[in-house]
Amino acid sequence: MADYAPVDLTAEGQVEFELNGRKVTAPAGTMLVDAAFAHGVEVPIFCYEPRLGPPVGACRMCLVEVEGMRGLQTACSTPVQPDMVVRTTSELAKDGQDGVLEFLLENHPLDCPVCDKGGECPLQDRTFRFGPGKTRFVEPKRHFPKPLDLSSLIAIDRERCIQCWRCVRFSQDVAEDKLLVMEDRGAGSVVATLTGDQYVGRFTGNVIDLCPVGALTSIPYRFRARPWDIRNTPSVCGHCPCGCNVELTEREGAVQRVTGRPDPNYAVEEGWLSDLCRFAYAGNDGPDRLRAPAIRDEGRVKEAQLDEAVDAAALVLGRGGKVGILVGPRATVEEGFLAQELARAALPGALVQRLGIPGAGLEAIRSQPAAQLGDIDGADLVVVVGGDPGEQQGIVELRVRKARRRGATVVTVGPRPHGLEGLGTAVRSEPGRLAAALEALELPAAERMIVLWDEADLAAEPDAAGALARLAGERGARQIELGLDVNGAGLRALGMGATEVLDAARRGEIDTLLTIHADPLDGPGGPEWGWALGRVRARVAIASFASTLTESSTVTIPASTHYETEGVYVSMNGRAQRLRPVTAGPEASAPGWEILIALMHRLGAPPPYRTAAATFAAAAAARPALAGLDYDALGVLGAPVAGVAPVSPNGVNGPREPAGTGLPLVTTTRMFGGADAYRAEALAWVRTGAELVLNPAEGARLGLADGARARLRSPFGECALPVRLDPAHPAGAAFATTGVPEAGVERLLPADRGPVRVEIEVVG
Ligand code: FES
Repeated sequence: MADYAPVDLTAEGQVEFELNGRKVTAPAGTMLVDAAFAHGVEVPIFCYEPRLGPPVGACRMCLVEVEGMRGLQTACSTPVQPDMVVRTTSELAKDGQDGVLEFLLENHPLDCPVCDKGGECPLQDRTFRFGPGKTRFVEPKRHFPKPLDLSSLIAIDRERCIQCWRCVRFSQDVAEDKLLVMEDRGAGSVVATLTGDQYVGRFTGNVIDLCPVGALTSIPYRFRARPWDIRNTPSVCGHCPCGCNVELTEREGAVQRVTGRPDPNYAVEEGWLSDLCRFAYAGNDGPDRLRAPAIRDEGRVKEAQLDEAVDAAALVLGRGGKVGILVGPRATVEEGFLAQELARAALPGALVQRLGIPGAGLEAIRSQPAAQLGDIDGADLVVVVGGDPGEQQGIVELRVRKARRRGATVVTVGPRPHGLEGLGTAVRSEPGRLAAALEALELPAAERMIVLWDEADLAAEPDAAGALARLAGERGARQIELGLDVNGAGLRALGMGATEVLDAARRGEIDTLLTIHADPLDGPGGPEWGWALGRVRARVAIASFASTLTESSTVTIPASTHYETEGVYVSMNGRAQRLRPVTAGPEASAPGWEILIALMHRLGAPPPYRTAAATFAAAAAARPALAGLDYDALGVLGAPVAGVAPVSPNGVNGPREPAGTGLPLVTTTRMFGGADAYRAEALAWVRTGAELVLNPAEGARLGLADGARARLRSPFGECALPVRLDPAHPAGAAFATTGVPEAGVERLLPADRGPVRVEIEVVG
């Protein structure tokens, strides 16, 4: 984890001071620990963590000598002053640091050989580097019952805790869930939950990274590996479209752990991860993982070798007739580009589309100046339009909370209640009337305004997208799209539309369909897709996980997941970042881009490149939105793309009347409610199911009590859900969660996830 704040030694307002005999500078107000670190001098710390807010000076590990000040000073809470003379390694300072470590180790059990932090433990490292070398302590150490489960994901070994307060401060001041507290006083102090219940939230795993001594450890990772038998690789999360930077740990060919990177990306996640991002890796090797290629012939399924399956796929795709290619939101930029190249060079007349929201009315708001997630911190006005960011784009919530703590005004506008509403002014719009709410919106004056807008909600109400674009333009605001699809922005940057294949398949014009990480039957508009695909003769699926589609495809080729492939994802707000493989995945699988290149070879149109890097370079040369980018330019932290607006607008471009009769349906996904959470055993305890939420008055009108079961019907499909009555949800609409595999709320939606009404009745 990052321990020291980055310091800009070229910024204006530098002050000069002396550090261990050298004249150096740092911006006024910089804490001594950070200024020293920027000049190559490490002052040992435990409680200090700049991302947790102002220093608390709890552990005294950072004692240094400052000339003219009586006694030793804590460098973490002392800002640099002009002409200050600081000694971090003088005999006096060394004595202080020795003393603190000796004191901390009095109670510490020194169980390094069995402690899961052993080898990665700042206490161990700092004791060796800054400690006294021997102990005078001979009394027995303290023992606590161990380990206790703080939750189903985090264990606590209480005797290891040095009471640095980092975990408690994270809970209180960053996540603001207020769940962790320091209980009791003095030697009896222990970290505990306020209520004594489990520590359950959306960002709890960050306390594992923050803990400097191995008191808090990850239950899924505990005793799985040691630092000398693992390999860590920096990559990007593929479980939501935020593009959080992660470090992946591999041992024996499997992902064993996901953590924040030691050097966080301050433009994106700042080192904090959601629990979905941190723990969903367990689903990578789950029971629904496709491990063997399959060829279906006259109803019989034959397991095949990878080469055989690619040969069979090339045969099916190349036998004439029109081909449709459907690229799913998990496909990388390289896979999307190769799908387009396959269509252009080897399958003339083939249609290529991405699976996602067409978003034809969103160009105006997308073309407003974009901000990075890190820019939210510095805003003085944050307007959140639609969506449920804390559940759908988790890390956004922490950024907005930080901005609010720094004094920003937060205004939310939308039809559904969510966690950010309580941070400021909440304007509740009627479903389908977002434009009116935006036009009537009164906002305070602000120099740095940022608008966060939900892709799905605004795509369903293009007039609201127009109203928001006007508002942002007039106020000089920058905007951030709250997208739903992991690499939806990357596929749009390739100019990929989202309606052609479905329309053509409906008309019976598609003979063969190739899907790449695309799962149309189990997603929004499943019944529509099912009907359309019933008219397709053969299907080839390149996929990582089994689905309704792969179970009936003519050829299925297992593909690598985002943990196993090279490639680029573009985050929802247009930041291109590199995936780096940490494992090879199942033996009979391959990265999607390799499979596509092999298919092009078989079909007689080999591309003039063979690697993912060369594929990305070709995409960047061919697509203006990616201009100037290559793997070197992306480096470890990525770079913003030039633009993510769709090149080929399609879909409905005016106000949209919801299809059907009954109540307008407002859908949302939950962080622990989607397929990724359901695949990961570690998240079983925090999974959320699908539900229908109604205002109590609406429930009474429909004869539905809390806990009842209701059937929902739309013109596209139906499903049954348990009912929850909640006065925070307005009357006049039905609220339901999508993403839960067995609930099938997606069946109610049209394929473009447009507005819909549902008839509701009691089941049984
Ligand atoms: S790091 Fe400075 S007091 Fe803890």
